[in-house]
Amino acid sequence: MARRLFAGLRFVFALCVFEGAAGTETLVIGIAGRDVTLTCQNASQRALVVEWFQGDPDTAPVLFSSDGKLPEDARFSLVGNASLHITGLRPQDERNYTCKEVLNETDHLHRIQLLVASGPDRIDVHIQPTTVLPNGTFYAKRHGILNFTCTAISQPVPTIKWDFDPSGSPHELFTEVNGSQNSFILHQMSPRYQGNYTCSAKNPLSGFQETRTQELLVYYPPPSLPQCWVETSTESSRGVQLFCQWPGGYPHPSLYWRDKEDLSSKEINATSLADTIVATLNSSQLLHEKEFTCHGSHVLEQEAKASCTVQLVDPMIISDPVRNCFIGRAVTLTCLLIAGNPPARITWLRNISQPETEIRSTGRFHVSQVGNVSTLIIQNCSHSTDEGYYVCKAENSVGLREMYIHLTVTGFRAEMPSEISLEEKEAGPTT
Ligand SMILES: *[C@@H]1O[C@H](CO)[C@@H](O)[C@H](O)[C@H]1NC(C)=O
Ligand SMILES: *[C@@H]1O[C@H](CO)[C@@H](O)[C@H](O)[C@H]1NC(C)=O
Ligand SMILES: *[C@@H]1O[C@H](CO)[C@@H](O)[C@H](O)[C@H]1NC(C)=O
Ligand SMILES: *[C@@H]1O[C@H](CO)[C@@H](O)[C@H](O)[C@H]1NC(C)=O
Ligand SMILES: *[C@@H]1O[C@H](CO)[C@@H](O)[C@H](O)[C@H]1NC(C)=O
Ligand SMILES: *[C@@H]1O[C@H](CO)[C@@H](O)[C@H](O)[C@H]1NC(C)=O
Ligand SMILES: *[C@@H]1O[C@H](CO)[C@@H](O)[C@H](O)[C@H]1NC(C)=O
Ligand SMILES: *[C@@H]1O[C@H](CO)[C@@H](O)[C@H](O)[C@H]1NC(C)=O
Ligand SMILES: *[C@@H]1O[C@H](CO)[C@@H](O)[C@H](O)[C@H]1NC(C)=O
Ligand SMILES: *[C@@H]1O[C@H](CO)[C@@H](O)[C@H](O)[C@H]1NC(C)=O
Ligand SMILES: *[C@@H]1O[C@H](CO)[C@@H](O)[C@H](O)[C@H]1NC(C)=O
Ligand SMILES: *[C@@H]1O[C@H](CO)[C@@H](O)[C@H](O)[C@H]1NC(C)=O
Repeated sequence: MARRLFAGLRFVFALCVFEGAAGTETLVIGIAGRDVTLTCQNASQRALVVEWFQGDPDTAPVLFSSDGKLPEDARFSLVGNASLHITGLRPQDERNYTCKEVLNETDHLHRIQLLVASGPDRIDVHIQPTTVLPNGTFYAKRHGILNFTCTAISQPVPTIKWDFDPSGSPHELFTEVNGSQNSFILHQMSPRYQGNYTCSAKNPLSGFQETRTQELLVYYPPPSLPQCWVETSTESSRGVQLFCQWPGGYPHPSLYWRDKEDLSSKEINATSLADTIVATLNSSQLLHEKEFTCHGSHVLEQEAKASCTVQLVDPMIISDPVRNCFIGRAVTLTCLLIAGNPPARITWLRNISQPETEIRSTGRFHVSQVGNVSTLIIQNCSHSTDEGYYVCKAENSVGLREMYIHLTVTGFRAEMPSEISLEEKEAGPTT
């Protein structure tokens, strides 16, 4: 403020002097509310009397004079016997003043044109339709039509301009007008119009400038519905995490998890990051067929609640109960996972000892899984070591399912080709 005041004072003293035949003409710019001194240019010490007029001395009465006529308005005073001092300038003080220097033989007239600059004041920024956030920022909906209006009052009329600082892009000057209002329309509001809009109003006479900056955000809801899924916790194989993700909106939606059946239940303690919320269930909640719902809401769609539901499910598997392998050939045991949430882990076991031993891919055994199908391939079948029960075990945090598969290992009988399985053809040597 202090800097501006100083700049203003410099203006008051920026006089332009034009010499005319009848005397001098001067232009003085004063600032409303401040003081100004109009000097009777070159008033000579020899002057007997100095008289001041508002307007032309031929028609206007004497405002006051140095020989004792006092001005009616106490804001006017004489300084240094010749100069007119006005305190608290008002717009109506904007007049042509004449000082008349009465000398022995002649009179000298000095004309002073006083311009009073005021404002800009009451600068106002309206961006509509928008909603105000608690911190004063506005937000608008994407695809909307917005009217940006800036108004300011000044004497003489201000120059109003709009500037736009898009987030992360170079500054742009929008429009500039000489007038008390500057408005423009943006159609199809898009996120690239998000940023800070600054309106500046400048008094062309005094150079005084006022600015208002308004932050504008462009909001949009997620385009689709939230997605939910269940995962086994990475920290503990018994833990279950519920994931809920609702991407594509701005700002991020609010999400929470709740027990579906128990409507009185509170929100499940969860951690959210951006457009995803993750709830970690404790063991008392890990029940077969228990359902959890993720509820989402977006600031632009308060009423339209979006949700997705997950159900915890015990694993279910199907497999052939018996398989046969010819001595020296290979056999494939398959196990298909048809249910389980979170997805179950499938392992193969041999129940020849307690605890049962897990079969891993080594030597003649090869375990693999593609999608929901797990396969165990046994090569070079041996009657003594391989015949017996195999277990396909599917386990998730909710439950456990096991299927017993009995493998018989028999001698090769060429006269019964119908018993040669596909796997044997692939794995075995040519006959
Ligand atoms: C001021 O007075 C001096 C002499 O008294 C004169 O030379 C000069 O032209 C005058 N200037 C103005 C602006 O009247
Ligand atoms: C004002 O006029 C008086 C007498 O008329 C004189 O004594 C005084 O010095 C003058 N002041 C200035 C600043 O010229
Ligand atoms: C003051 O004088 C200027 C010319 O010098 C003229 O254009 C203007 O209209 C005058 N103003 C008033 C208020 O009479
Ligand atoms: C002014 O007039 C008075 C008499 O009226 C005279 O005495 C004086 O010398 C004059 N001064 C000048 C500078 O002409
Ligand atoms: C105002 O609040 C909005 C929403 O919380 C935020 O995105 C924005 O950065 C805030 N603006 C400022 C200037 O703090
Ligand atoms: C924008 O709104 C202002 C004030 O509400 C109005 O005066 C102006 O005409 C509008 N601008 C346009 C381009 O419609
Ligand atoms: C608006 O300006 C403020 C302050 O410079 C900045 O923190 C904020 O990120 C800007 N807002 C946008 C949307 O660019
Ligand atoms: C506004 O007025 C100034 C001074 O009269 C002029 O230089 C400028 O070109 C004008 N601007 C517009 C946008 O009319
Ligand atoms: C929610 O979880 C956090 C971190 O896991 C924990 O610090 C907090 O106490 C929990 N709150 C409740 C109400 O269980
Ligand atoms: C598990 O969560 C339920 C529901 O939030 C709560 O009532 C129970 O006390 C929790 N149990 C443990 C062992 O944290
Ligand atoms: C595997 O089974 C689960 C159910 O347990 C199912 O959701 C998923 O789509 C299946 N995956 C494939 C690749 O078939
Ligand atoms: C292996 O499983 C079968 C079928 O359930 C059972 O009869 C057999 O006793 C089990 N053998 C061992 C060693 O547990």
